[in-house]
Amino acid sequence: MRITMIGSGYVGLVSGTCFADFGHHVTCVDKDAKKIEALENGRMPIYEPGLDALVAANVAAGRLAFTTDLARAVKGADAVFIAVGTPSRRGDGHADLTYVFDATREIAEAIDGPCVVVTKSTVPVGTGDKVEAILREKHTAEKVAVVSNPEFLREGAAIDDFKRPDRIVVGAEDTRARGVMAEIYRPLNPNVHPLLFTGRRTAELIKYAANAFLATKITFINEIADLCEATGADVGDVAHGIGLDSRIGPKFLQAGPGYGGSCFPKDTLALLKTGEDFEAPQRIVEAVVKVNDSRKRAMGRKVIQALGGSAEGKTVALLGLAFKPNTDDMRDAPAIAIVQALQDAGAAVRGYDPESMEMAKPLLDGVTFCSDAYDAAKDADAVVLVTEWDVFRALDMRRLAEVAKGRVLVDLRGVWDKGAVERAGFTLTSLGR
Ligand code: UDX
Repeated sequence: MRITMIGSGYVGLVSGTCFADFGHHVTCVDKDAKKIEALENGRMPIYEPGLDALVAANVAAGRLAFTTDLARAVKGADAVFIAVGTPSRRGDGHADLTYVFDATREIAEAIDGPCVVVTKSTVPVGTGDKVEAILREKHTAEKVAVVSNPEFLREGAAIDDFKRPDRIVVGAEDTRARGVMAEIYRPLNPNVHPLLFTGRRTAELIKYAANAFLATKITFINEIADLCEATGADVGDVAHGIGLDSRIGPKFLQAGPGYGGSCFPKDTLALLKTGEDFEAPQRIVEAVVKVNDSRKRAMGRKVIQALGGSAEGKTVALLGLAFKPNTDDMRDAPAIAIVQALQDAGAAVRGYDPESMEMAKPLLDGVTFCSDAYDAAKDADAVVLVTEWDVFRALDMRRLAEVAKGRVLVDLRGVWDKGAVERAGFTLTSLGR
């Protein structure tokens, strides 16, 4: 198959590279000439484990190429994927579809032979119909079909998620388009990775419903964590105890400082807007959004509490700044709200993250960026684990105690062992315990 991927961001680049690795011929397109030039020289625009090697191998094999020339890349393609950004629209939280429709118009101009246009970007219900209407101005239904194929990959585990998905959702109204999609995903064994064909609108909604459900699961356990703290129960054991019920399942029950990232915050908001538009209000998700927003700042207050109620003149070290490990992504990271709460309370903040510091610098004004965890902890009154990077799991607590001034550790991810921490002379504050 000849595949063209419009948009070489997270989803486009990972999907395009993995399709090439399946044996298809893929051209990834982006308007950003600098990004394309970097990719051509083997430099990745994002940090994602394993991606650089996979790109290099497929470029060398002649199956993967990069270009800014959309029109040329679209000609002769069997499938054109739209994987451009759909950010929250400023002011109202609706998904901004400008990039999707701009790309569609350009694709419509360039299509020569029969092809399938696939939306991989997360787009609100009904977007496929609008994409189709734009294409229909120039092309018949026999020539061009529109399909929704949402992507469920997680940052930091993107390649594995793409190649070993729980399911592949394909929303298509047209038999030929279903055939093309089945061929594209043929390298994945459908007995292990089911290919689920649905209507197009259904596929679009599956993506939002999945993300909103996962955000709800996280937020639920976060509130249970608060209740555990108040009642002397242990949230880790509660999560384990409920997760063993196969109707609930063990995943996404790790209490933490609130979800962030490029998907959950924007997709939950967009789902609320869709609910309003169609007069089917999503009240549970509305509560989730509110609870999660306030939780991030509450984490700052938690640190202040651990410091004895005042952060004035104190120094706090934050370990991990990205919204989760194995990414440099700072979008809606809890660290942003935590830093703000601490600085508002008069604290000086030092921070370290293995990958996100370049991204973090413009967002975290006044923070001192350090070279590692021990450097961050230097003279700190409190050390806070914000993001559970592996390097922070086995920190030498005694060495930490030698450099830190205070004896306060706060673990917002439930990874540090109470015994080891206390043997080094620290007191530990963890969530939900
Ligand atoms: C998410 C979805 O998982 C993915 O399917 C979709 O395609 C994009 O959005 P991602 O944002 O990369 O992926 O990260 P994910 O691993 O899902 O984590 C999201 C947030 O939830 C992070 O802030 C993480 O720390 C938090 N989280 C996750 C928890 O606090 N507890 C958990 O148990 C799981």
